[in-house]
Amino acid sequence: MDNKIRIGLFGFGVVGQGIYQVVSKAPNAHAEIRRICVRNLAKPRSVEAPGELFTDRVADILDDPGIDLIVEVIDNADASYKIVCDALRRGIPVVSGNKAMIARHLPELIALQQEHDTALLYDASSCGSIPVIRNLEEYYDNDLLLEVKGILNGSSNYILSRVFDHGEDYASALAKAQALGFAESDPTFDIEGYDSLFKLVIITMHALGVYVRPEDIFTFGISSIHDSDIRYAREKGVKIKLVAQVAKVGNGRFTMFVMPEFVRPGKYIYSVDDEYNGVVIRGECYDRQFMFGKGAGSLPTASSILSDIMARRHDYRYEYKKMHYIDRPVYTTDIPLRIYVRYSSTPIPDLLPFTAIHEQYLSAESCYVIGDINLADLIAHRHILSALDVFVVNTSSFFEHLD
Ligand code: HSE
Repeated sequence: MDNKIRIGLFGFGVVGQGIYQVVSKAPNAHAEIRRICVRNLAKPRSVEAPGELFTDRVADILDDPGIDLIVEVIDNADASYKIVCDALRRGIPVVSGNKAMIARHLPELIALQQEHDTALLYDASSCGSIPVIRNLEEYYDNDLLLEVKGILNGSSNYILSRVFDHGEDYASALAKAQALGFAESDPTFDIEGYDSLFKLVIITMHALGVYVRPEDIFTFGISSIHDSDIRYAREKGVKIKLVAQVAKVGNGRFTMFVMPEFVRPGKYIYSVDDEYNGVVIRGECYDRQFMFGKGAGSLPTASSILSDIMARRHDYRYEYKKMHYIDRPVYTTDIPLRIYVRYSSTPIPDLLPFTAIHEQYLSAESCYVIGDINLADLIAHRHILSALDVFVVNTSSFFEHLD
């Protein structure tokens, strides 16, 4: 009996080519790539596939009644949203890796799945090869789960590792992350923290059953890191990592943000280097668990897509059960943080509403302050942070007991 899943693939870039290779290595998937839709048919590609598979017409896939599953890995979030919505409206299940598209449109995408009784799976959207979404959805109960925290972006972690551990300069480390296929086509998403942010939004939906819009979450990346920040961290015996976290903070509330953090040796994520991702899941009764693996790159991401393809073979879909719990935590930004801010000439301690200052250093070359500030105030002043040459690091003192 021929019970193959016939796939219509959108996108044949780094991840699309990986999917083509991985599917051909997995006979038990009984999957066949039937058509591949790309924007530019003439573009040279390193992985060969038969010419007759390719088309540049979206309808050649969406209108093909022989296609059972759409796999969508294009890097344009708007085009991706349109394709995914069209497919779901036709009742065709979709596997997607597009975290920006999913994070921005999750409520509508959930509604479409329900309305048209079909499925959208996206484990590959968050942390590459690490199966974080399906585990949060199926295994971790909302009541016991206290925190999900980790390194969710491979490119920025790769850059920090090269700069921090190997003394390379930032620009050449970024160029390598791009050449190795880890970075987004617009690497600003990686280095400014947005890629981690999108993944955190998706993770939070499956961890706590709550959707928070990306624009409502504090996000600060690594692009403004200076040698003086690296020197400071080395002197203190810590590493700087770009960390995304969602954590319950008591009284039925939770908070979330993305920012660099000083990470001490002994913490699980201290040893997560290069393009690897690491996710710490903390809960009542079981304390901490740690998931570690390649978070970016062609084949690691494709392996996660393959897992979703296999899951569809068994009609798996996310049920978003936690969204319907009576007692869901409420998002708050009213929490204290203790942050390090490195600055040059503009007097940051006068511009940010710190509630206490613990340490301050002034020199002609660079200055820093370590102080307490409410997350809501930090968000209200983010225009200042983005306009000036500053670097912000969470010292994590207030979250000490959580990590
Ligand atoms: N640009 C992303 C990263 C790819 O570096 O993590 C995987 O989502």
